[in-house]
Amino acid sequence: MSKVKVGVLGSGDVGKSFARAFAAVGHEVMIGSRSPEKLAEFVAGAGAGVRSGTFEEAAKFGDLIALATLGEATSEALRVAGAENFEGKVVIDATNPLDFSTGAPKLFIGFEDSLGEQVQRQLSGARVVKAFNTAGNTLFYQPQFPGGPPDMFICGNDDDAKKIVGQVCQAFGWGVIDIGAIDSARYLEPMCMTWVLHGIRSGSWTHAYKMLHK
Ligand SMILES: NC(=O)c1ccc[n+]([C@@H]2O[C@H](COP(=O)([O-])OP(=O)(O)OC[C@H]3O[C@@H](n4cnc5c(N)ncnc54)[C@H](OP(=O)(O)O)[C@@H]3O)[C@@H](O)[C@H]2O)c1
Repeated sequence: MSKVKVGVLGSGDVGKSFARAFAAVGHEVMIGSRSPEKLAEFVAGAGAGVRSGTFEEAAKFGDLIALATLGEATSEALRVAGAENFEGKVVIDATNPLDFSTGAPKLFIGFEDSLGEQVQRQLSGARVVKAFNTAGNTLFYQPQFPGGPPDMFICGNDDDAKKIVGQVCQAFGWGVIDIGAIDSARYLEPMCMTWVLHGIRSGSWTHAYKMLHK
């Protein structure tokens, strides 16, 4: 994949992991936040090729955009970023619709809709691909497992966009499994819960999915 400008929307651990990973494979990155000044230390340590901006600036900057915002705030973050700044672009949607209001996380969307579909509806001119929502962010880049590369499940409506996101996954060190159109996000978002619940029960956060074939 040739060098592109990547806009990362999200200043949490996931946004930072995306920024480091995209920079590590040679892309230019702008990581976005409502308060970009809080990213000064991160940007200083992330090396050349990473800068910070507002959500709107990061969306404008990116030819490719990675979305890493709090699930319940994703719609508001996209509104602030401006839907027009995503027009025609590939958007990796790594968000999960997690509700922490009662302590243990649970999903706040499901069965008949998904956050991935909501993002695609809100960014109707963009090519949204759900990806990186079923993996812990510390494993996004160069995941090392005795059983070989883990698999990233992806879905989206645009085949060319999925090809590009597949190349990103492979460049980061993942296998890729395309499970269909964006409505398949209804099944990828619950997979995040399986990953989280296993983490809570095992006390370990270094697991990842792999599809076995014979
Ligand atoms: N933790 C993981 O390893 C993991 C793995 C895969 C997917 N995910 C998903 O990735 C997403 C990001 O997770 P995270 O843990 O890095 O961060 P997070 O705490 O879930 O989200 C942080 C981002 O959400 C933005 N945000 C929060 N409230 C907002 C509001 N009211 N309006 C606009 N923006 C708001 C923050 O903006 P500011 O920058 O302005 O503070 C920040 O950029 C989540 O959807 C999560 O479920 C997590």
